Amino acid sequence: MIGSDVKSSSQFSQVVLMRIGSIQLESPFCQAGLAGYSDRAMRLVARRRGCSYAVTEALLDTILLSGGLGLKKSIDINDEDHPIAGQLIGSQADTMARAAKILVDHGYDVIDLNFACPVKKIKNAARGGHMLRDVVRGVEILQAVRDAVAPHVPTTVSLRRSFDDTAASAEQFEQLLEAAWGYGYGAVRVHGRTVQQKYQGRAQWEILRKIKQRYPDRVILGSGDVFTAEDAVAMKQQTGVDVVWIARGAIGNPWIFQNARQLLDQQNQTGVTGAAAPLSPPGIHQQRQALCEHFAIAMQIHGEQVAGRRMRKMGIKYARFHPQAVEVKQAFIKIISLRQWNEVLDRYYKVDAAGVWPSPHSSDEVNNEPFSDKLLELEV
Ligand SMILES: Cc1cc2nc3c(=O)[nH]c(=O)nc-3n(C[C@H](O)[C@H](O)[C@H](O)COP(=O)(O)O)c2cc1C
Repeated sequence: MIGSDVKSSSQFSQVVLMRIGSIQLESPFCQAGLAGYSDRAMRLVARRRGCSYAVTEALLDTILLSGGLGLKKSIDINDEDHPIAGQLIGSQADTMARAAKILVDHGYDVIDLNFACPVKKIKNAARGGHMLRDVVRGVEILQAVRDAVAPHVPTTVSLRRSFDDTAASAEQFEQLLEAAWGYGYGAVRVHGRTVQQKYQGRAQWEILRKIKQRYPDRVILGSGDVFTAEDAVAMKQQTGVDVVWIARGAIGNPWIFQNARQLLDQQNQTGVTGAAAPLSPPGIHQQRQALCEHFAIAMQIHGEQVAGRRMRKMGIKYARFHPQAVEVKQAFIKIISLRQWNEVLDRYYKVDAAGVWPSPHSSDEVNNEPFSDKLLELEV
């Protein structure tokens, strides 16, 4: 084995950088909400590798309120899975407020409101990123949710940088931002793309820098185009955001958190950007360990059949670190059972060896995944 990759937080010299309200964060890197990916399995595998804060995928308020199986499937945390933000999406202040209370009652540490998802409107009502065009509704929701949860539970809101590139839209973003601060929100997350852009084009980090400059005493999470540990540290250093939101870059790469912490630590110690010792990609046995943990937890949560489907797309992303990446990816694509999964591990992950860094563009495979469609799927 080329060394264990599971680190305790005390191994990083950088302890306690900040808080979101009453919640202490041990590092400035968090795992994003990612519909269809960021379940407890993905979160725990990441936490064991340096991720100190994670956000659930967007949970529909009406599903939580309807109780039964929808509620049971949506609520899934354990003692190892803290601090965690439960992220809510919905259209009505009243239902969002009641759903927020449900999450708090089930032990979620922070409530994050999703005003960022480019999902379509339902029954003509705004939700997600459409809140940027229905500011009155957005402000009502911000207020109702803040009023509904106990003062010690921080609330945060996730926003796109605007709905589109018009000046009116930029103004609406400002109104929501000011309302969030006014009602006492502990942090705001900004994705540097517009809602119209969905996942196309580049995220504008310069806008993140300007926002942080305007609100130096507020906690800002920055999001968009963070695919490697180097990107995560670069976003932090170039924009000054307090926390970097790692999304597609964390899929199949739970090591990104410890790598980013290590890189930031090294740079803080030397005081020179880019002067850090090079990071090593995870070895084959480190990869095998993460894959096994991930599948085992996914099985507990979803059962073999669903876990198999979810792990297939995860395996494909993990495969990027294998020296025979193309072959391993093909092998994961064919998997339909646990037996086949184990066969792939035995065939490609039995003998330890050095891993490889993925090509910088291999994250593009999930770049255009229709997140909106995944949310619609949740409604049936
Ligand atoms: C497949 C997929 C699912 C997503 N699900 C969510 C979600 O549930 N909640 C959320 O706030 N953002 C969600 N996002 C947006 C990401 O969290 C992130 O803001 C976006 O991908 C930009 O960051 P990146 O360019 O570094 O990936 C999703 C994105 C993708 C690609």
